[in-house]
Amino acid sequence: MMARDLLQQVTGLNLTEAVVGRAVERRMQATALEDARAYERLLAGSAQELSALTELVVVPESWMFRDAEAFVAATAFIGRRLAASAARPVRILSVPCAGGEEPYSMAMSLYSAGVASADYAIDAVDLSEVALARARAGLYTRNAFRGRHLDFRERFFKPAGAEFQICDEIRRQVSFEQANLLDPGFSSRPGYYDVIFCRNLLIYFDDPTVALAIASLARLLAGDGILFAGYAEVPAFCRNGFTSLRAPGAFALEKDGAHASWPARIPARQQARVPAAPARARSATPAAPPARNAARARRCRPHRLRRRPTCWRARGARPTWATTRAPPRPAANCWRPIPVRPTPTSSSAWSANANRRWTPPATTGAAAST
Ligand SMILES: C[S@@+](CC[C@H](N)C(=O)[O-])C[C@H]1O[C@@H](n2cnc3c(N)ncnc32)[C@H](O)[C@@H]1O
Repeated sequence: MMARDLLQQVTGLNLTEAVVGRAVERRMQATALEDARAYERLLAGSAQELSALTELVVVPESWMFRDAEAFVAATAFIGRRLAASAARPVRILSVPCAGGEEPYSMAMSLYSAGVASADYAIDAVDLSEVALARARAGLYTRNAFRGRHLDFRERFFKPAGAEFQICDEIRRQVSFEQANLLDPGFSSRPGYYDVIFCRNLLIYFDDPTVALAIASLARLLAGDGILFAGYAEVPAFCRNGFTSLRAPGAFALEKDGAHASWPARIPARQQARVPAAPARARSATPAAPPARNAARARRCRPHRLRRRPTCWRARGARPTWATTRAPPRPAANCWRPIPVRPTPTSSSAWSANANRRWTPPATTGAAAST
């Protein structure tokens, strides 16, 4: 089997000849093989070589609080879930997690909202061992911090040379594991997760692979759970058994016919606004459609999504969650000022920032010039 077919079969990624050609060239140099056929024979017989080649074609790009509204919405959802029933910790999955930026952002968001560490667990999965090694180390370059609002970096990271080291409080909240979303065994725990992040991977798959991946995620997601997708991936989820929830900029979905404890379902008089995610530097975003169009918009018509993924937005449908029913434990009371708590470390650089109120940062998609 040719290198491209093999890679596509294993990863699901839709790869161009050029991308595969460059990767094969690099591996031929690394293995000191000059003959392409000899390299293909090596590739066919060595899982280790296949893994090394795979590392060269994956796109492990991510950054802290990428599409920050998703973390606002997830935190609100988790707060409400814990308020309703704190019988067990909320289970969160980030797949793919790349270098850990996404699951760590979730952990920072929950920590800042005062959610106790025992009340949630985050599993983070990726195909790339290289990306996972970075995630486990928790060491990031400036490229992981984009946008202008980087208060969280002062609070949760400490400088380590030219890089930034995440604090242990956040690091130990996430369990990393290498796995392939497309493996049949991946969804062996039906209904296990309350919250799933699957963002910016399906865009690299072809349609049958997308359907396979979504079927696997649907099996893993609890009946009343929610899933966060990348904005360009929402239509694919809607075509494969999911319904978009009204969460502007968060790209949240539930399974068709499910009833996620989504804040937008709470009658208006019971609602209390949570701090909205900061305005993003996307001035070209068209105005949200009027509320009466919400039902129509929720059908996620792909032709509108191609312009901007705002078709399911409804005015006034910002993430909210009920506060009339008092949460059983203060830890679950999201979005009140951050309680005074032990600092992540005794380091004065960190402790100086430990009790600041935190708000999710705005992301611009451009690397910060800090
Ligand atoms: C662009 S990153 C997305 C990271 C993060 N979710 C985000 O939105 O920033 C894509 C990641 O998908 C991983 N990946 C590719 N194919 C995969 C597969 N079949 N199963 C699990 N992870 C995969 C890559 O290793 C890469 O780290």
